[in-house]
Amino acid sequence: MDVEEFIKGIPKAELHLHIEGTFEPELMFEIASRNHKEIKYNSVEELKKAYRFNNLQEFLDIYYEGANVLVNEQDFYDLTWAYLTKVHEQNVVHVEIFFDPQTHTDRGIPFDTVITGIYKALEEGQSKYGISFKLIMSFLRHLSEEAAFKTLEQALPYKKWISGVGLDSSELGNPPSKFERVFEKARSEGFITVAHAGEEGPAEYIWEALNLLKVTRIDHGNRCLDDINLVKQLAKKQIPLTVCPLSNLELKVVDDLRNHPILKMMDNNLLVTVNSDDPAYFGGYMNENYIEIAKALHLSKKDITQLVINSFKASWLPDPEKEKIITQIEIYFQNN
Ligand code: HPA
Ligand code: ZN
Repeated sequence: MDVEEFIKGIPKAELHLHIEGTFEPELMFEIASRNHKEIKYNSVEELKKAYRFNNLQEFLDIYYEGANVLVNEQDFYDLTWAYLTKVHEQNVVHVEIFFDPQTHTDRGIPFDTVITGIYKALEEGQSKYGISFKLIMSFLRHLSEEAAFKTLEQALPYKKWISGVGLDSSELGNPPSKFERVFEKARSEGFITVAHAGEEGPAEYIWEALNLLKVTRIDHGNRCLDDINLVKQLAKKQIPLTVCPLSNLELKVVDDLRNHPILKMMDNNLLVTVNSDDPAYFGGYMNENYIEIAKALHLSKKDITQLVINSFKASWLPDPEKEKIITQIEIYFQNN
């Protein structure tokens, strides 16, 4: 089989996905209509035309606006269910997804409404599709430390549902150090920590995420390549990087997928993984991300297999489950 078919058939894990970033225009219009909410654009086509971004902030402005039509538990359920249905068709078998509570609680939507809708869909995805999952609550870094503390407080009654905390939104000017104390509290409450770092921000922000926030994974991390000592440290500790090729292209983190650093990262023994970030906005889910990067960089089936195995290694699945799925993947590679 060719590389494309190989990618489609291999069981995959997604570790960097914002549930609000899976909001397809069709569903957005449907939910807006039933909630009597206005959308600035007259049609799905017009909305899609607005999806041209020169940087992270231009994307975030549209992404937060889209999320404004989500009001009821059912809306969050439908959003999550649509994502799970889509990735199930793509042979994704494990997901670790972000949600941004502040995007909703700041509009007066209760924390409970948001998380219950998302969680019910994830449970349904587990029972109906066999997709295992972890949920990660992400703080918006353009907001204050105080607001993050308040959000962490709201999350405590839902601790059983939330495996980790993350940090996303506008990176430049909002270094990890701003959230050192919140992350310390989150760790003391038993949450695993991750952070977006080195997407637009410098390598120094990756150091801060490691040393101050004690993260176990870096989301994006592209800019680590600017600092040879950082690369050595990430490789030595096998800190996973959740890389998002189509996101990088759409947000101009890279000018062309042919110049994407993922192969260089692999050559440096980094534990890199492929993910979709905000698939409704960046033109592709998991398979499209793998296919486009494979085409651009002429990745072999062996490279693809390595990337897929990396994702399971980097996941928060228990070790016996990791070993079981990695063995299945090795068999798939040998047979295809
Ligand atoms: N970076 C920062 N914040 C985000 C992203 C991203 O890629 N996607 C959604 N929120
Ligand atoms: Zn992201």
